[in-house]
Amino acid sequence: MQLTPKQIEVFRCFAKENPKILICSGAKRSGKTFILDYVFLSHIAKFEGKGLSFILGGSTQASIRRNVLDDLEKILGKELKLDKTNAIEIFGNKIYCFDGANADAWKKVRGFTAAGAFLNEATALHDTFVKEVISRCSYPGARIIMDTNPENPMHTVKVDYIDKTGQRLEDGQLNIKAFNFTLDDNVFLSCEYIESIKLSTPSGMFYDRDILGQWVSGEGVVYKDFNQNKHFIRRCDIPTKEITSYFCGVDWGYEHYGSIVLIGEASGTYYLIKEIAKQHQEIDFWVEEALKIKKDYGSIPFYCDSARPEHVRRFKREGLWAINADKAVLSGIEVVAKLFKQDKFYIVEDVKRFKEEIFMYVWNEHSGEPVKLWDDVLDSIRYAIYSKSKGSNFKFK
Ligand SMILES: Nc1ncnc2c1ncn2[C@@H]1O[C@H](COP(=O)(O)OP(=O)(O)O)[C@@H](O)[C@H]1O
Ligand SMILES: [Mg+2]
Repeated sequence: MQLTPKQIEVFRCFAKENPKILICSGAKRSGKTFILDYVFLSHIAKFEGKGLSFILGGSTQASIRRNVLDDLEKILGKELKLDKTNAIEIFGNKIYCFDGANADAWKKVRGFTAAGAFLNEATALHDTFVKEVISRCSYPGARIIMDTNPENPMHTVKVDYIDKTGQRLEDGQLNIKAFNFTLDDNVFLSCEYIESIKLSTPSGMFYDRDILGQWVSGEGVVYKDFNQNKHFIRRCDIPTKEITSYFCGVDWGYEHYGSIVLIGEASGTYYLIKEIAKQHQEIDFWVEEALKIKKDYGSIPFYCDSARPEHVRRFKREGLWAINADKAVLSGIEVVAKLFKQDKFYIVEDVKRFKEEIFMYVWNEHSGEPVKLWDDVLDSIRYAIYSKSKGSNFKFK
């Protein structure tokens, strides 16, 4: 087995300084889980045949299987089957698997005495679960290891553990040690793969987190890669003949702008063809506009804000193909932002509201989400593109 220089650093630290809490935080696919699999096994091996309990925590049982157990099986060369108590046996000890995403997850580990724990993707776990697991690791010599992708810098995993790296107990024992991983640290990924990931990752927060592994919140405008000199397109330059599918996004609004956008797709490139954005309009207005689009473009999907189910039902009654949009904010923004970064999303230049919003839509540095202003057309775009991206025919890396 070969390790990356960063992984060697982590393993040396575990072997020599042996911190009570060891954290690998950083970029996706940078090699964090891989090294902690070995660290976890080495730790369990120290207690070989003792029949002790260990905790393996992840957000769901499925993610534990996918992220950790499958790789442990490869390393150990044997199948790891969960028994009735969701436990597996390794080196004569029991490893209990717990899903820790929910607020009451901590109750499952109550009363446990563990000789060690591996928490996979720690920010996906509930804070009380993380803290309960750590306090359950009371057997002499118990160790806790965690891996995580970065999130908001105020996240408890960062503030309570990572920021305390280097902390020692009174007897000099290293208590917490955190390592930061960047994508470049994984020297086993091909240069081509790394380059393509870098080229498609949106600038700003997404790049800083996913590539550099930094705990940053968003700042400034959300769509940093939108370039008005490149991404506005004249109506006559839209390759209408090449467009193979059309779809719409709908954001309901009254005081705020309501918005319907029409988007066309040609071989993985997207064109915003029509923007309807209006204040103080009743549902009848939106139905009429949507029916006009249906008349011109056929029965195409309208991905709608699900916050007004009565409006979605009304669309359906009118014979419109209305679908509740997937409204996951960060994931949706990331998909739209990637399209701008890769020059795969063009906006017809006669839009009005979009032109205002795109430069006014900014991150709230404290919440880690965008400020809920100047977001009406941009939300309908996000609903459309992100919901569409979850369909199998979305041509987009
Ligand atoms: N030392 C290594 N040798 C071979 N492959 C590795 C090594 N470290 C990581 N990998 C591979 O790189 C990919 C990403 O590693 P992983 O540990 O899952 O990243 P992360 O947990 O940071 O997302 C995986 O396919 C993993 O098997
Ligand atoms: Mg991982």
